[in-house]
Amino acid sequence: MDSLPTSIVVLTGAGISAESGIETFRASDGLWANHPVEEVATPEGFAANPQIVYQFYNQRRRQLLSPEIRPNAAHSALAKFEHEFEGDFLLVTQNVDNLHERAGSRKLVHMHGELLKMRCLNSRLVYDIAEDIDFDTECKCCRSPGNLRPHIVWFGEMPFHMNQINRALESCDLFIAIGTSGNVYPASGFYQTAKIRRAYTVELNLDRTGSSFDQHVYGPATEVVPAFLDSILQRQGQRAHR
Ligand code: APR
Repeated sequence: MDSLPTSIVVLTGAGISAESGIETFRASDGLWANHPVEEVATPEGFAANPQIVYQFYNQRRRQLLSPEIRPNAAHSALAKFEHEFEGDFLLVTQNVDNLHERAGSRKLVHMHGELLKMRCLNSRLVYDIAEDIDFDTECKCCRSPGNLRPHIVWFGEMPFHMNQINRALESCDLFIAIGTSGNVYPASGFYQTAKIRRAYTVELNLDRTGSSFDQHVYGPATEVVPAFLDSILQRQGQRAHR
């Protein structure tokens, strides 16, 4: 990409949090290798056995809140870029961890929800949550047990913020995917939407994914993300000094 971008959409997946110590989904020892998706990440699984689902998310929440889990250099580079880039910017994450926020990102949407939030099935109110919950935990709105579910988008459910995301994809001239295997729709199709609108598309990932981006940069996110974003900021600085 020779020209300086004016509008950027970044999509992140589990790979950007891997070096922070959070396992990805589809690695050989990943989350889905140890937990049947149908049981813990579908509305049917929750209806069949909510306790298994509560325990699955309680365990992931406890891990996220443990002191050794912190944002890494890739999260920090994205937060720094957001504040220094002079064009439009939107960070769309598939991740439910809060590492982007903790690194300082603000122009951010969680399209698959957030681990540190719960939702009341009755009132649909969304609450922050840090402690374990189970079927007997009362929601603050109805004051009755059994109403709370993780504020996470499960398979078969519509992701959040899709109107905002599609508007950003249709007007961006640079789309960057970081640390995602491109296995789950609609996120896996975002680069094609951007491409149709003549955006330049770049994939920064540890492994090949078979997606046909304009450019692929392979390596750990903590190395390739800072380097790639800095190259854009350098071009922005050079243009300013012409
Ligand atoms: N740096 C960069 N990329 C990495 C790193 C790393 N250190 N480690 C792993 N990766 C890459 C892997 O090569 C893989 O392509 O991150 C990707 C992780 O892929 P998945 O485990 O499939 O995770 P993701 O793409 O985020 O899954 C998307 O699927 O199950 C649903 O809701 C879940 O949001 C998730 C969605």
